[in-house]
Amino acid sequence: MQYNLPAMMRSDRPIRLLFGLLSALPLALLAGCMEPFEVPEATSADAQLYVRRCSLCHALPDPARMTYGQWVAVVGRMAQNIRSQNVPQVPDDEYQQILRYLQRHAKADAR
Ligand code: HEC
Repeated sequence: MQYNLPAMMRSDRPIRLLFGLLSALPLALLAGCMEPFEVPEATSADAQLYVRRCSLCHALPDPARMTYGQWVAVVGRMAQNIRSQNVPQVPDDEYQQILRYLQRHAKADAR
């Protein structure tokens, strides 16, 4: 008997599907542990830039969640995430603007 495998089983799609699910997992976790918060200085241009650039792939993180030093590292990693994805690219001066905004509202350093 001729048996036609469903297209999904013949292609590499299951692998890509699995990969997609795995890479979505951290985002789901990130969203899951988010407390509701108010965006600081919400009507300012800085806050609006932050919302526009940083809520495309996951829920917007609370600026008070980390220290400024931690934000510098995370935003550097986000620049890599953004470069590797098909999302609007962020110019350097906007990363600087976002970091200055995060610096004003970051968690205080323990030191
Ligand atoms: C292109 C999609 C994308 C955009 C846009 C994006 N992120 Fe992310 N973000 C991710 C991915 C993927 C992860 C999980 C992997 C990682 O941490 O790199 C993540 C994780 C995070 C985390 C959790 C990391 C941790 O260590 O707890 C924070 C905080 C974060 N992003 C902040 C931001 C900020 C701030 C911006 C705006 C500058 C931003 N993201 C824009 C994709 C994105």
